[in-house]
This record gives sequence, structure tokens and C-alpha cells, in this order.
Amino acid sequence: MLDLIVSRRSIRSFEPRPVGEGLVERILEAGRWAPSGMNNQPWRFAVITDRGLVEQVSRLTRYSRILAQAPVLVAVFLDMEASYHRTKDVQAIGACIQNMLLEAHAEGLGAVWIGEILRSEAELKELLEAPEGFELMAVLAVGHPRGPAPRPPARKALEELVFFRK
Ligand SMILES: Cc1cc2nc3c(=O)[nH]c(=O)nc-3n(C[C@H](O)[C@H](O)[C@H](O)COP(=O)(O)O)c2cc1C
Repeated sequence: MLDLIVSRRSIRSFEPRPVGEGLVERILEAGRWAPSGMNNQPWRFAVITDRGLVEQVSRLTRYSRILAQAPVLVAVFLDMEASYHRTKDVQAIGACIQNMLLEAHAEGLGAVWIGEILRSEAELKELLEAPEGFELMAVLAVGHPRGPAPRPPARKALEELVFFRK
């Protein structure tokens, strides 16, 4: 597990070939099994593979170059009707997204978490006909990685992070 966690990278360049439906289902399945407070499972997904729609979604972020070439986009929403505690619900969505990123990586796919698109929430919700009570959390771009794996961005040393041990 640790090797998978450490070797996962944000992948921002994809081959044009599609991602098999089975693989997409496995990624969603990984998200579905994330932990959540009181097991409220507040995540909701929109899966976008239609090229025209991918193109439209890509225009909603400054990372359009990344999104436009991705064979699959997964928009992740928080369903406010399922929500019981904002912080915990957002944490659960984070766990859900990380599960999906790790599953994509485990399957040899690449993915990146796009948060910058949150500023275009209203436009994206309209494109996807998302219910009023859904709050946009992220869009994941998923595909077969193109080119070599990026170099790992540095991480802070554990000594900087652990402030207490007894
Ligand atoms: C909440 C969040 C938002 C992010 N938003 C973006 C984004 O808008 N565009 C992007 O290219 N990467 C985005 N990333 C990916 C980070 O840049 C990346 O995880 C970080 O630089 C570490 O690189 P690594 O994932 O390869 O280890 C986001 C990651 C997180 C967790």
C-alpha cells in the first residue's frame, strides 16, 4: 500500500485512447468504499466521456489543456441533503477522491485532482444538470498516462510534521 501511495503522481497528460468501462467502474467503486462520518456517504459522481462535453467542461478552468485531452472526467459533488457535519463531510469526500486516485494508479491509469474548477461551479452544474443541493468538490481527469511519470514533488520531512511524540 505504501509503495502505491508514494508512487502515485498527479498525471496531467493522457493518451487519446479511451479508458475501459470496467476500469471506470472500479475507480468509482473505490470511491464508494471510502469512509464517511456516520457512514453517510455524501459523495455523488458525474462521469463524463462525451468529447463535446469534456471540451465544454475543460473551458471552465485554466487547466483546460489537461481536461480537454482526458478520456474521462469525474466530477465529484457533496450532496447537501446527505450532509450532517460540513467539516466531516468534506473530509469524507477527500478520502473518496484519494481512494479513486489510488485505484486509478493501481490499474496503471493516471489521474489528477482539479480543484481550480470550483470557481466555475455554477456553470458546471448547469452543464451536468446537477441538482440544486449538490456542491462541487473537484473534477478528476483520468486516462492512460502519456510520457514518463513526472518527478515526485518534494514532501516535507516527517520531523517537520510530527510536533509531538511521547
Ligand atoms: C485539493 C486539491 C486541489 C488540487 N487542484 C489542482 C488543480 O486545480 N490543478 C492541478 O493541476 N493540480 C491540482 N492538484 C494536484 C496537486 O497539485 C498535486 O497533488 C501536488 O502538487 C502534489 O503532486 P502529486 O499529486 O504528484 O504528488 C490538487 C490537489 C488537491 C489535493
